Amino acid sequence: MFFLDSSDPKDILDLFAWGVLSGVTTNPLIIAREAGAVDLGERIRDVVRVSAGHVSVELTAETEAVMIEEALGYHAWAPDRICIKVPFNEVGLRVNHALVQRGIPTNVTCLMSFNQAYLAALSGATYVSIFSGRVRDMGYDVRPVIAETRAQLDREGLRARIIVGSIRHFMDVNEALSAGAHVVTVPPGILRKMLHNPKTDETILEFNTAWANRGK
Ligand code: E4P
Repeated sequence: MFFLDSSDPKDILDLFAWGVLSGVTTNPLIIAREAGAVDLGERIRDVVRVSAGHVSVELTAETEAVMIEEALGYHAWAPDRICIKVPFNEVGLRVNHALVQRGIPTNVTCLMSFNQAYLAALSGATYVSIFSGRVRDMGYDVRPVIAETRAQLDREGLRARIIVGSIRHFMDVNEALSAGAHVVTVPPGILRKMLHNPKTDETILEFNTAWANRGK
């Protein structure tokens, strides 16, 4: 399954029309880069309007009470669509647990290891987000992290779904899926690159040229 890793309503509208996307993930870096000083509530409501499925919105506060308050505010924008993205650490786990107890979907994020992903899953997260590109930046292979997490979720029947993000190349997408990711969250540029194969273009050109020249 694919989510789109973007907060750009134009890209989201355009790419949801392909029928291949089931949700959206955002983070403070993506929003800052794509939207600058735009009002967050306005931006997220636009994203919800042009997409389907869960839209992950990340918390930026760093203390438990303020994070919970922040989460309740975001969730109220579209209670059936907003998933709260919770940065992983001890405070994050507490916040995740508190939100899960209120029935709010969560996406525990910035995970680099099996141990972290397992803790997030045990704490009741709807999604656990493993960051492929950033794990590789540290010099590690991300595939065992994904595969071990998936095996443990399946063994224990935990409800968390694995999202693999931090995608830098379309081969990262293929590897994440074969390692056991339930969802890959793909940046718009990489999704568009997945369309192209010179042999496909050559074949279509050959067919269309033959058709245009039929009977000549
Ligand atoms: C995933 O949910 C994150 O938004 C994203 O994929 C992080 O990727 P980055 O390493 O490109 O910042």
